[in-house]
Amino acid sequence: MSCDPAFEAARGALELLSTLKPPRLIGFGTGHTVGFFMDLARGYSGSWLVVASSIDTAVRASRLGFNVLYPPRGPLDVYVDGIDEVDPSGNMVKGGGGALLGEKILAFNSGVNIFIASEDKLVDVLGSRRPIPVEVVRDYAPLILGALESLGFKVSPREGSGKRGPVVSDWGGVIVDVHVNGVRDPEALETTLRSIPGVVETGLFIGYADYIVVGFRKCGYKVLRFERRRSRR
Ligand code: A5P
Repeated sequence: MSCDPAFEAARGALELLSTLKPPRLIGFGTGHTVGFFMDLARGYSGSWLVVASSIDTAVRASRLGFNVLYPPRGPLDVYVDGIDEVDPSGNMVKGGGGALLGEKILAFNSGVNIFIASEDKLVDVLGSRRPIPVEVVRDYAPLILGALESLGFKVSPREGSGKRGPVVSDWGGVIVDVHVNGVRDPEALETTLRSIPGVVETGLFIGYADYIVVGFRKCGYKVLRFERRRSRR
């Protein structure tokens, strides 16, 4: 028997959640794994208030019957989101859907963070399979891209579909993919990228996970516990 590992991870997150203090205000990330989670959690639509990390999630959650609060007020009890890559320390790359800015703000302002991923998202070294997404200020994107290139990075504005030109995020920035060929020191890379004026946020999520739920193709899931290092006080 085989299962959809993303579904298994979402199922695991809901079971994990049932062992924690019931949330009142919950954040939903973006992507198809979170989509499974939202579907499975529909039974809670009467008791949870939802904060969405993107327009896509806000629309999907509303259509499922969740009460979506906008703009969010006060910290979240729990935040649930997907992953593009995760290393053995629980550090992650996110932003495959271009929602990294909203996702990082919600993850920072949440009491408990649960990230969910299919087993294929596990990597030894971040950035070895995919570029690092970065959001930059739209109107100065050419200057900012040039500054990134002058530091030796290979960068490409992410191309959208349905419209010519780069992907513009829900917050108005341009999404740029920075090709790194494996990140040996994610914190140093984060510091370097953020040192360039106009880089609004990066898709490196270092120290944000409390739990990571990994789903397996052979069915079932595993809950990994991490020491959270990044959150509001
Ligand atoms: C959205 O910007 C991303 O951070 C997603 O959370 C990430 O790409 C995982 O998406 P999937 O669940 O669709 O793989």
